Amino acid sequence: MTDAAGAVSFPDGFTWGASTAAYQIEGAATADGRGASVWDTFSHTPGKVRGGDTGDIACDSYHRYREDIALLASLGLSSYRFSLSWPRIQPGGRGPANQRGLDYYRAVLDELAEHGIAATVTLYHWDLPQELQDEGGWAVRGTAERFAEYAALAAGALGDRVARWITLNEPQVVANNGYRTGDHAPGLREPEAAAAATHHLLVGHGLATRALRDLGATDVGITFDVHPVRVLGEPTAALEQARLITDAGATGLFLEPVVSGRYPVHALKSLLPAPALVADGDLNLIGAPVDFIGVNYYSPIFLRAGDPGDLRRNETYARCQVPGVVEYAPEELERTSMGWLVDPSGLHQILTEVSERAPGVPLYVTENGCAAEDYVNPRGEVDDVERVRYLHSHLDAAARAIKDGANLAGYFVWSLLDNFEWAWGYQKRFGIVFVDFGTQARIPKASARFYSDVVRANALPLLPGS
Ligand code: FCB
Repeated sequence: MTDAAGAVSFPDGFTWGASTAAYQIEGAATADGRGASVWDTFSHTPGKVRGGDTGDIACDSYHRYREDIALLASLGLSSYRFSLSWPRIQPGGRGPANQRGLDYYRAVLDELAEHGIAATVTLYHWDLPQELQDEGGWAVRGTAERFAEYAALAAGALGDRVARWITLNEPQVVANNGYRTGDHAPGLREPEAAAAATHHLLVGHGLATRALRDLGATDVGITFDVHPVRVLGEPTAALEQARLITDAGATGLFLEPVVSGRYPVHALKSLLPAPALVADGDLNLIGAPVDFIGVNYYSPIFLRAGDPGDLRRNETYARCQVPGVVEYAPEELERTSMGWLVDPSGLHQILTEVSERAPGVPLYVTENGCAAEDYVNPRGEVDDVERVRYLHSHLDAAARAIKDGANLAGYFVWSLLDNFEWAWGYQKRFGIVFVDFGTQARIPKASARFYSDVVRANALPLLPGS
């Protein structure tokens, strides 16, 4: 809806939040009995993370959670999405809980409750206990079973304070970047292991969902990285085929089993698990109803006609492998400092598409945001105009998607804080709050003020100067 002043409003009761993840913000890597995760191992391996950065200290949110929660409250947010560190709760990935790990999360949850902020808790944001990796990680089925046991421990000890559970964050990235391309932990380049991990992550989601529900959880979902596919130029049969295959590999591979209990028919065979890995009943388990779907949106994939053997400027080889088709980064689109294309209409597209593919299931944008070259100016402020523009255009797209029928119930900005951006280390700042990693000072950026205004009004103002 648009009012007389041009403001676009959001539905009553819309959830507004900010997201973080344990390894990216907590630090305190060996405190209170925490075990090592694959990301500790990976970040401590020379050459894996830019500048040799690690999550050892990160934003030290382990010790500064009160300050961070006060920030959330000062922005007027109704929910905080954060993740539990599995190796804090089960240092070796199995067996009884480490009480000090649970105590920490209970303290965080108590603090959130005191401020009236609902906890949206991700069980797995990529920090697999190293001991489970040593046994094969997600390439073996046992990890899915261990994950469900961990989910049960977490829900048993913390469930009374958790509003909403997310089983996995971006399983596609875990399987692809962790096991196929190797640029994330555990750094493997083994296509078969990646296909196996795909299935075991999904089984882990199914088993954990069941365990959470058995313990009384009523709002359980999963977060996917979603990649709208946009086709440029005259439609052709090859481009349509390419679109279907690209979508199946980038989004459908995880979305469809959860929503429809089957792997997408258009997925390349090399991405699918070997039939022997898929036990009877697995797809029913994976396809059991979820209460919501989380979508993380950053950039679309563009396809156009081209010659993979003779790539032109801004063209890359197409992952769909359809002859005569290439992926393409349109010259006219802005890029963030990650090099990611800025395209808010992709958010509109994917929200409406996912709503059509999962009729009746509420969606949350569980991540959206951008990295920018932020700095503290001589007045002590961080004037991140790019991020304000980015958020404005994406929130506008989200509001339009709601108007066009998307079942969107909330939006979480990535991220509350600048943090450890995986293989990029601390070089990429995604926060609406600047973190000085030398002093751990937090400085809300202009985007934090902008976002807070949106949240309080439950509406998007016209951009200053527009
Ligand atoms: C997503 C991750 C999140 C963050 C953003 C930029 O893929 O889930 O942890 O790194 O990208």
